[in-house]
Amino acid sequence: MKIIYYDQYEVLKVPCALWQNGYRWSSSVQKLESNKTLLKHLAYKINATGPISVAEYMREALTNPVSGYYTRNDMLGPDGDFITSPEISQIFGELLGVWCVSEWMAAGKPSVLHLVELGPGRGSLGGDILRVFTQLKSVLGEAEVSLHLVEVSPKLSQVQAEHLTRHQQQEHDAKEELVYRSGTTHTGLPVCWYRRIEDVPKGFSIFLAHEFFDALPIYKFQRTEKGWREVLVDVDPESPDKLRFVLSPSRTLASATFVQHDEKRQHVEVCPDGGVTIQNLANRIAEDGGAALIADYGHDGIKTDTFRGYRGHQLHNVLEAPGMADLTADVDFGYLRKMAGGQVTCLGPITQQSFLKNMGIDTRMQVLMRSCHNKDTQAQLIHSYDFLTNPKKMGHRFQFFSVLGRGRLAQSKGDQKAGTPPPVAGFTELGRQ
Ligand SMILES: C[S@@+](CC[C@H](N)C(=O)[O-])C[C@H]1O[C@@H](n2cnc3c(N)ncnc32)[C@H](O)[C@@H]1O
Repeated sequence: MKIIYYDQYEVLKVPCALWQNGYRWSSSVQKLESNKTLLKHLAYKINATGPISVAEYMREALTNPVSGYYTRNDMLGPDGDFITSPEISQIFGELLGVWCVSEWMAAGKPSVLHLVELGPGRGSLGGDILRVFTQLKSVLGEAEVSLHLVEVSPKLSQVQAEHLTRHQQQEHDAKEELVYRSGTTHTGLPVCWYRRIEDVPKGFSIFLAHEFFDALPIYKFQRTEKGWREVLVDVDPESPDKLRFVLSPSRTLASATFVQHDEKRQHVEVCPDGGVTIQNLANRIAEDGGAALIADYGHDGIKTDTFRGYRGHQLHNVLEAPGMADLTADVDFGYLRKMAGGQVTCLGPITQQSFLKNMGIDTRMQVLMRSCHNKDTQAQLIHSYDFLTNPKKMGHRFQFFSVLGRGRLAQSKGDQKAGTPPPVAGFTELGRQ
């Protein structure tokens, strides 16, 4: 990242990870019309109080209650800005459904099972998992199963409700209500929507977060000769309708708080909201039992500048047209592990390819191919399989990470030979489970 000096702030010339390969695909290019309301709001704020943190910028751009990208849009799928694994093939959600049931069984089949999904998008993953739950009804027996969705976007919660309940739902009026929507799924289970994880009722829970943590706001820091400096977002004095990155002239509270003393990198991104969320999940798992499965693109504390934007399946300058493009940063799983603390055990990250293969995607494919006689559908199945597992596509870019109660691995330790991986589905080779 090249830095030139300007006023008391240093202006960053290469603003984001635009040179990196895109992780999302398609060919459609949309006309770029700016979300003027949000840009004006941000410029007003910056002019009044000075440059803002990247975290504040990202939060406003994605979840501003009026003009935020997630607040207003259904951006998923071929006509949107990006596509995710649950949207590519139902096999993905089915295998995650099997993982949920397997962890519930490993916990001794508790009488209550909360399936909690963070950031459910269009509700496709939840829908595929519910189908598995229906197929495994005899295994789930009398367990009281319910679905809990944590979703900040009114628009997407509507899409989820249509997909999951087929209109068997109602919106709750009062803004302060913890549950803002509730209903019954088309498979007959109660489902509720919340804005925050803190509002989800306690009880044995399986938490799922697919492409959720990467959407949480990050702070960015740059090592300089004078020490760590925070990257901030400012209005460009030469074109007031443009934003630019600058470096804080001195230490900020965030740089003093969030950069680790032993940090070796030149540039770091820290996601405190991700840290708080994982602590919340860890506390719940330690107190009430359960497990969390997190899938996202990410790294184990080694990457530097990963902040990027997507629009119309193309990489997009993060500072251009705020509110009109998805903003994202790779998840630092090393940081999540540290923040989860000692009361839980973390597994992974492992690649999506390994996880899906360990979950039996190859066998599932064989069954589907055998029962399918339509050539187009077969080709579609093979294409989706390749997309999900090919190391050059989603297979290696996406990682799986799990948070488990400490007792979960201790239970089975007696049966294990020294050095044998723990028998947690997806994280252990299929033959060894
Ligand atoms: C990239 S999409 C992923 C959607 C879905 N999980 C999938 O993989 O198809 C991110 C999801 O998280 C939601 N989201 C983003 N920030 C959130 C927040 N702070 N609290 C709750 N939901 C949030 C978005 O509205 C959206 O549903």
